[in-house]
Amino acid sequence: MPFKKKPVAPKKVVVPEKEATPLTTAAPVTDESEGGNSKNPELLRGFRDIMPEEQGKWNLVRDAVRRLADAYSFDRIDLPILERADLFLRTLGKGTDVVEKEMYVFTDPSNRSVALRPEATASAARAYINHGMLDRPQPVKLWYMGPMFRHDRPQAGRYRQFYQVGFESFGVDEPIVDAQLIVIGMQIFKDLGLDVKVQINSIGTSECRKAYLAELVAYFRQHRAKLSEDDKRRLQKNPLRILDSKEEATKELLEGAPQILDWLDEKSKEHFMKVLEFVEEMEIPYQLNPYLVRGLDYYSHTVFEFVLADDTGDSSQAALGGGGRYDGLVEILGGRPTPACGFALGLERIVKALEAKGINPPERRQPVVFFAQLGDAARRVGLKLFEEFRQSGIPVAEAFGKNALKAQLEAANKLGVPITLILGQKEVLDGTIIVRDMESGAQEIVDVKKAVSIVQRKLVPVALDKPAQI
Ligand code: HAM
Repeated sequence: MPFKKKPVAPKKVVVPEKEATPLTTAAPVTDESEGGNSKNPELLRGFRDIMPEEQGKWNLVRDAVRRLADAYSFDRIDLPILERADLFLRTLGKGTDVVEKEMYVFTDPSNRSVALRPEATASAARAYINHGMLDRPQPVKLWYMGPMFRHDRPQAGRYRQFYQVGFESFGVDEPIVDAQLIVIGMQIFKDLGLDVKVQINSIGTSECRKAYLAELVAYFRQHRAKLSEDDKRRLQKNPLRILDSKEEATKELLEGAPQILDWLDEKSKEHFMKVLEFVEEMEIPYQLNPYLVRGLDYYSHTVFEFVLADDTGDSSQAALGGGGRYDGLVEILGGRPTPACGFALGLERIVKALEAKGINPPERRQPVVFFAQLGDAARRVGLKLFEEFRQSGIPVAEAFGKNALKAQLEAANKLGVPITLILGQKEVLDGTIIVRDMESGAQEIVDVKKAVSIVQRKLVPVALDKPAQI
């Protein structure tokens, strides 16, 4: 795979951003009018159902992640969806969009300020401390999958409830850990058939960031008049966030702005160079992106994002995932200083990319036998017979809810099964069952106890070798 090392231009955003309703603890949670007077029960904006017909693609992703988590010896952890709001306020950063505008914060019945988790890295670090995982052999490698919540402006690829899978590695500060996490992310995409590249940057330690930020603020102060109110506020509160700005004017200014890479201290530079060497060694296509700072404050050193290989950087919803090193996080939460690194992928965006590429899950195994019944006694036998067939690995369809034989045979025809089993009152009394060849219409009456073996013999062997279930 070719290396692409040239720095990329700051992202251009095509859709102008409108501010979402602020949702910090101080702001009232105002529900937007979503046409709530309709007769149908309505979903909240930015929330969605993942329908049965979509589950095949979702399972492709879930299964690939599970397989690789296992292969790379990451252990699954399930973290609560609701946490003390404070956990995120302390770790993600006061001036970040996620904390300032997007958190679902409310007071629970015990009068505690709680939040629906906007991400899970802070929770993983909390769990690492709570369960004394520092005393386990390091690194402690955890992975998770589940819903996150951010009250952002909903649009394509951006939801208020969305699913992430995340990989977090605690306890080792070696650059190879960062590199292997990038490899794992890339491997997930490769397994799924998606062509993805990595954008990568280093934001060094908090010390070298301090000197850089002073320079950055001085640069933007000279151009204050061109900044939006939002960016002026960013400059004051959390200047690094200005590199994330979606304003066109700010993005133009960024081209002449000082770059963090020039302010890295020797140790940070060395760490970053080693990560890049490993990434090159693994032939991972990457781009250095000096504007990549990520939207959360806990990062240090390496930061990275996964985007589709043909991505032009026009959309702020382009990242299929992102992550980086967060060596200070465990300590912020009161634990012993613990280096750590991780990433999370957005499942909705990955599923959308699979759809766009026409990547589909294997077909569901088609039934080869239909069971038709007449009357309740036949239903009772049918329910048992269905289990016998299922246990023998023969996929059976039924229409237990239908009574008329005609309707049931129509259903069997529609499914295109080669064999239908018919059970009426008489057959129940005789302990027999009718086996109907759907193509010729020929029927024979057989001992019900032998139904499975007879059908097994009749079926063409290939019919049972169809693709496995999703
Ligand atoms: P993040 O970049 O905020 O990082 O989110 C990771 C991914 O989640 C994004 O790249 C995107 O695919 C997806 N995502 C984020 N917001 C939305 C949304 N509103 N709708 C749909 N998808 C979304 C984190 O959350 C960090 N915890 C990642 C990490 C793990 N860093 C270290 N370890």
